[in-house]
Amino acid sequence: MNELNDIVASAAQSFAQAATPAELENAKAQFLGKSGRMTELMKGMAALSVEDKKTRGAAINQAKQAIEAALAARRQALANAELQAQLQAEALDVSLPGRQRSQGGLHPVSLTLERIEAIFGSMGFEVAQGPEIETDWFNFTALNTPEDHPARSMHDTFYVEGGSAQAPNLLRTHTSPMQIRHAVQHVKKHLAAIDDGAGMPEIRVIAPGRTYRVDSDATHSPMFHQCEGLWIGENVSFKDLKVIFTAFCRTFFESDDLVLRFRPSFFPFTEPSAEIDIQFVSGPLAGRWLEVAGSGQVHPNVVRNMGLDPERYIGFAFGMGPDRLTMLRYGVNDLRLFFDGDIRFLSQFQ
Ligand code: PHE
Repeated sequence: MNELNDIVASAAQSFAQAATPAELENAKAQFLGKSGRMTELMKGMAALSVEDKKTRGAAINQAKQAIEAALAARRQALANAELQAQLQAEALDVSLPGRQRSQGGLHPVSLTLERIEAIFGSMGFEVAQGPEIETDWFNFTALNTPEDHPARSMHDTFYVEGGSAQAPNLLRTHTSPMQIRHAVQHVKKHLAAIDDGAGMPEIRVIAPGRTYRVDSDATHSPMFHQCEGLWIGENVSFKDLKVIFTAFCRTFFESDDLVLRFRPSFFPFTEPSAEIDIQFVSGPLAGRWLEVAGSGQVHPNVVRNMGLDPERYIGFAFGMGPDRLTMLRYGVNDLRLFFDGDIRFLSQFQ
C-alpha cells in the first residue's frame, strides 16, 4: 500500500511543479494516461485472486481519486493564476487623470470688451467697428484737431504708407474717428427724415477696438484698446453722460460703493471736456482717484462734420480705456502682462 501512497505523493508533487496547463497535462499522462503508472497498476491486477482484486482494486481506486482530486485542484489553481495575470495586465488605473483636450479661453481684455458691450447694449447702444488704419481726416481734421496739434507729430503717431502728403494714412491714435464714421452712416440712412424736418433717431453707439501711439512703459503700450461712446440727439446733455457713465461703472465693477468725478479738461473735439475719474469707497483701491475716460459735449464743428446742424443736434462723447478697466477689475499692475502672451498669466482669467 505504501507504493500507492508514494505514487499519490509523487503525482501531487509533479502537479505542483507544473507551471502551465500544458505541463500539467503532461504530468497527468504520466499517472493517468494510457501507459501511466496507475494504468499499469490496473493491468497488473489481472493475475490476482478475486479476494485480492477486491481489496487491491478499492485501494487503487482510492489512490486514483486522490490523484484526480490533486489534478483538479492544480488545474483550478493554474486557471486562477492565469486569470489573475490577465487582470493585472489589462488593469485600468482609474486614478490616472484622463486625457483632456486643453481648453482655450478669452483674453482678459476681450472679457472686458464683451462686458462693456453687454452693459452699453442693455442701455440701448449699438456696437460699431472701424478700421485701424485711418486717414488723417477721420483721426484728426474732422475731429477739430488743428494742424499744429502735438498729437499729430511723428513722436506720438505711427504714420503708415499709402496716403498722400496732404492726407497721410496712420494707425488710429484713438477710437474717436468712429464718431465721424458712424454718424455719417447714420445721417445717410436717415437723410430723408432729417431733410423733411422730422428729425433722425438718436445716435447711440459704442465703438471698441485697438488703437496705437508711440509710447511704451508699464502703463502704456504702443498698441492698446479704447472704447468710444457717442450719444447725439436733440436733447442730450451732460447730465445724461453722468447718468450713463455712472451706471456703467457701477455695473462693470459690480459695486455701488463707487463715486465719479468729472475733472475739467481739454479735447479739440469736445467743449466742455472732462476727464472721468472714479474712486472706490471700499476695497483694495479705496481712496484713490483713478482716471478711466476722457469725455465731453461734442464740439459744434464735429457735429457739422457729421453732416448735422449743431443748432439742432447736440450730445456727448467719451473714450475709455478697456485695458485700464481690466487692470482695475482684476488688480493687475503691469499693462505689458496683457500683451506678453504668457499662458500662465492668461489662464488665470478662465
Ligand atoms: N479720444 C480721446 C483720447 O484718446 C478721449 C475722448 C473721447 C475724449 C471722446 C472726449 C470725447 O484721449
